[in-house]
Amino acid sequence: SHPQYEFIQVTEPRPGVGQITLNRPKSLNALSTPLITELNTALSSLQSSPTTRTILLTGSPRAFAAGADIKEMAPLTFSSAYLTSFIESWSNLTHTLKKPLIAAVSGHALGGGCELALMADILYCTKTANFGQPEIKLGTIPGAGGSQRLTRAVGKAKAMELILTGKSFSGEEAEKWGVAARSFGSWEELMEESLKTAETIAGYSKVAVQAAKEVVNKSQELGLRDGVEFERRVFHALFGSEDQKEGMGAFAEKRRAEWKDR
Ligand code: HXC
Repeated sequence: SHPQYEFIQVTEPRPGVGQITLNRPKSLNALSTPLITELNTALSSLQSSPTTRTILLTGSPRAFAAGADIKEMAPLTFSSAYLTSFIESWSNLTHTLKKPLIAAVSGHALGGGCELALMADILYCTKTANFGQPEIKLGTIPGAGGSQRLTRAVGKAKAMELILTGKSFSGEEAEKWGVAARSFGSWEELMEESLKTAETIAGYSKVAVQAAKEVVNKSQELGLRDGVEFERRVFHALFGSEDQKEGMGAFAEKRRAEWKDR
């Protein structure tokens, strides 16, 4: 239903859930500039779609994404990368996204693929998923936030070891280290549970969901005192929403809340 896309597929597997499937199987979903451009377009169109409430990003059982496209990067020079702000467009992927993004990772999530997964609000994976920042083996370093987001997720000790050695880590380790929220025994279970979580979130007030995502993300930017203060301000603000009245009223009346998204 979205013939404009060549390297991704966009579907609505459940009401309120927009799914983007990376679909460049011949190169294990290597993240070329054209693919990233499509991903940006799809994310911003799901962001503006009134029916989409949660976004699920996935790949294939074999690969979420095996990294930025090495063949595209190989001939780049400093000045061409600098002048075109190579990779900067990746920051747009999630910076402007207000709706929750769940990444469902199976198979390879290497280099830029690992970094893309780390941009998600919730990361689910298979236990056998293959994460890593192997850029050091190519004579370079992570370039889409890996050194920052992975370090925040696992701490300096592990991040430094992973980035300096280029060694992979499994989905099971990702869960144990707090990179992934949960890991699953099969692709089928991964997708079913990801959809369930997406649907659960899609069933809440859009206003509360957007605020919840915003305050959690602020914890990655602010010190504790400023973060707690920011949270309290947003919490106060939600007393101005109809959905707060509806949610608490429904609890008192022992009935299901009917969200108005206001
Ligand atoms: C371009 C890639 C690719 C990539 C795989 N392919 N990864 N093409 N860029 N990142 C292509 C292969 O060239 C091959 O194409 C096809 O996909 C299948 O891959 P194989 O290697 O044959 O598969 P397999 O033996 O199963 O090995 C899987 C693999 C290996 C372990 C994932 O492909 C691999 O090591 N890929 C590179 C991983 C990596 O270094 N990623 C980080 C990239 S740097 P042909 O045409 O030969 O069949 C990076 C920097 C990010 O991401 C910085 C900013 C974003």
